[in-house]
Amino acid sequence: MKGIILAGGSGSRLYPLTKVASKQLQPVYDKPMIYYPLTVLIASGIREFCLISTPHDLPRFKQLLGDGQRWGLSIEYREQAKPEGIAQAFCIAESFIGKDSVALMLGDNIFFGGDAFPRACAAFRSGATLFAYHVNDPERYGVVEFGVDGKAISIEEKPTHPRSHYAIPGVYLYDNDVIAIARSLKPSPRGELEITDVNNEYLRRGTLNVVRLSRGTAWLDAGTSTRLHEASAYVHSIEKRQGIKLGCPEEAALHRGFLTVGQLEDLLTTMPACEYRDYLADVAMDARRHGQRGA
Ligand code: DAU
Repeated sequence: MKGIILAGGSGSRLYPLTKVASKQLQPVYDKPMIYYPLTVLIASGIREFCLISTPHDLPRFKQLLGDGQRWGLSIEYREQAKPEGIAQAFCIAESFIGKDSVALMLGDNIFFGGDAFPRACAAFRSGATLFAYHVNDPERYGVVEFGVDGKAISIEEKPTHPRSHYAIPGVYLYDNDVIAIARSLKPSPRGELEITDVNNEYLRRGTLNVVRLSRGTAWLDAGTSTRLHEASAYVHSIEKRQGIKLGCPEEAALHRGFLTVGQLEDLLTTMPACEYRDYLADVAMDARRHGQRGA
């Protein structure tokens, strides 16, 4: 399975923070926001990525992430000239996806805890897999309604009267049909190719699977200055309490076997003296001590 991270949009709600650097490059405590979704996908076993952003922001993402090689990944880049909808990602990245299945993740979605994503990626065969998360403000999201048998029966984008409290977070797994489905979509009244229309097509075909995320999973939103601040505070409190880092791509790549301990140690020599390097040095030492692969 390949991975697309969609990191465009205008970020207008965070202005003036986003005047120079896009929303997904803003710090969430001690790392750029994009590190968090990238880490979730790496931890799910995805190694080949395509990052989509605006022509203005793409150079900065390239500067930050490069071609991914130093983390044992490959990262390609594509431009989205205008924010014409989340589903447009599949048209833009068609040549990247090729004949594979694909995970799409929104670059501003931050998750911690649970193992729902690695499990779903490993179990994925065909159709579409979405996730559902209980929230108190479902009208702000795509909303899924479940029937008595626990299967999804309706999906609506930002409904005024939501039929459930289950929001659909910005992580979606699709088979290769998603390219043809996205290509056949018509723009919605707000002028976008809607991800909800893609999901409704899978629902119509009877090939949609929706996994409810457990209470142990945290899904944070960083869409406004207040929420961005709260997300940072959350990361800070967990990291301080547990002495671990959240959203650390190098660590996820090591645990997945994409990087050897030796490669991680080489990487450390390219970093300035900082808390992040000290943390990764501990991770590498721990991996050596416990005989992690590639030592
Ligand atoms: O966060 C999950 C929600 O994301 C889902 O529940 C909704 O079904 C889905 O439509 C989406 O809702 P949002 O209101 O968050 O969508 P927004 O337009 O804010 O875009 C989400 C992110 O994707 C944002 O960081 C910008 C980026 N984006 C969006 C569009 C429309 C792009 O890069 N390009 C685009 O064309």
